[in-house]
Amino acid sequence: MKHLLSVADLDADDFEELFRLSDSFAEVSARRIPKVPALRGRTVVSLFFEDSTRTRLSFETAAKRLGADTMTFSVASSSMRKGESVRDTIETIDAMGVDAMVVRHGSAGVPQRITDWTDVSVVNAGDGWHEHPTQALLDAYTLRGRFGSLAGRRVAIVGDIAHSRVARSNVVAFSTLGAEVILVAPATLLPPSLDGWPVKVTEDLDGVIDSVDVLYLLRMQRERMTEHLVPSLREYSRRFGLDHARADRLRDGAVVLHPGPMNRGVEIAGDVVDRAELAVVDQVRNGVAVRMAVLWSMLGAGTDLVAEPDEQQGAQQ
Ligand code: NCD
Repeated sequence: MKHLLSVADLDADDFEELFRLSDSFAEVSARRIPKVPALRGRTVVSLFFEDSTRTRLSFETAAKRLGADTMTFSVASSSMRKGESVRDTIETIDAMGVDAMVVRHGSAGVPQRITDWTDVSVVNAGDGWHEHPTQALLDAYTLRGRFGSLAGRRVAIVGDIAHSRVARSNVVAFSTLGAEVILVAPATLLPPSLDGWPVKVTEDLDGVIDSVDVLYLLRMQRERMTEHLVPSLREYSRRFGLDHARADRLRDGAVVLHPGPMNRGVEIAGDVVDRAELAVVDQVRNGVAVRMAVLWSMLGAGTDLVAEPDEQQGAQQ
């Protein structure tokens, strides 16, 4: 795999291959020294033109656990504040000699465009409303861990579908893996057209909550909204938020996912966050293993996947 720009580039076998690699890297992450030398000497740079906590830290942790060097670019402290363009920024970083760029940007298509300006591998870490493929991978991996397979499972994705790159990537990922996807949202929070989306749609969360295996709550993307699309956040929360009464109606074994950051009191009541159905901690933990799998797939060909640092050093001497 040269780049990871969209989940549409992955078929079911590619997912399974990345999941098997993730299993190996989850095992590495559980070691006392959670590190392998597979990408020693390689440099991974994270280029975040938009805010992030977990995705940036997760990629950097993943790169470090593989023995790679890491660099971070954050726009707030860079020469972009002096007006430097994305292209000039990329060409500057490229000239320093890096092996992969992990890119987040507020506009759809920027990671793809960057592949025209550099020969190194590019990972889309979220581009505008468009896609967030490693989020979909870690979500699908988390569900595979719970259910063994997604085939035949019912997944409800709830909330701000219109502005959500997580929803776009997950609809494709979950359906590629055989799940049935239901979007639960008011019409104002759906994209103008759902042509070609392999989904059912409802506005009635209470009508589906007791029949789903997975409830996927999306964050209200307030920073991407240009107008009031719901009467009030309180009203949204009343119709689409997860409170104890709704959580009590979930099936035994059902799981609740959220990509973070959570708006407590909007899509989820503050005190529901501690319930056993919530798999948010698993999502974050799995995110590191999955991103190790992605980086290794792009840069690691020919290296020993999970050799302990000392063994590998010994072999090289
Ligand atoms: C998501 C994002 O930034 O797309 N967060 C994340 O990467 N875990 C979801 C969001 O911001 O709502």
